[in-house]
Amino acid sequence: MKAIVYESNTGFTERYAKILSEKTGVPAYPLAEAKKQVARDEEIVFLGWVFANKIQGLDKAKKLWNVAATGAVGMNPRSDENTKIVREANKLEIPLFYMWGGLDNSKLKGINKMMLGLVRDSLIKENKPEYADAIKVFKEGGDFVSEEYLQELIAFMLMKI
Ligand SMILES: Cc1cc2nc3c(=O)[nH]c(=O)nc-3n(C[C@H](O)[C@H](O)[C@H](O)COP(=O)(O)O)c2cc1C
Repeated sequence: MKAIVYESNTGFTERYAKILSEKTGVPAYPLAEAKKQVARDEEIVFLGWVFANKIQGLDKAKKLWNVAATGAVGMNPRSDENTKIVREANKLEIPLFYMWGGLDNSKLKGINKMMLGLVRDSLIKENKPEYADAIKVFKEGGDFVSEEYLQELIAFMLMKI
């Protein structure tokens, strides 16, 4: 395993990539930097933040390297159902590890901020009790990064090294 390559918008995915690097000894690079540092077709693990269920940067990474597994970092809590949704939206044939990231409204800009605002407002309008937790996170933000969510991916990588 040559590298951990990641795409992070507000820093949650970057934190997971750095913890993963510490635990496995495999270097971590943001996608743009990895293009200079990691030779084509090398075996990598890719981590990306989730936007409308799509793992950002994964398609680009697949064109450049041999992606052995992918980690998805999103604001939805971890569940088998959510992992299945992300797996299907990204048409994944490689192992997927889902990690609960967070939301930092102060770091969101432009189109991302606007789109998230639209989703938040539509949830508020629907006014369903099951959306209460999500609405709270949309409004106040949240940080759910935990090493616990990396355990399976760490085990996967240590088996490959
Ligand atoms: C426009 C937009 C769309 C998002 N869509 C999803 C989504 O479909 N599923 C999800 O779990 N999280 C979604 N999120 C939340 C991000 O994936 C989450 O904030 C993630 O932790 C960001 O990671 P980063 O800090 O590395 O960029 C979305 C965020 C934004 C701004």
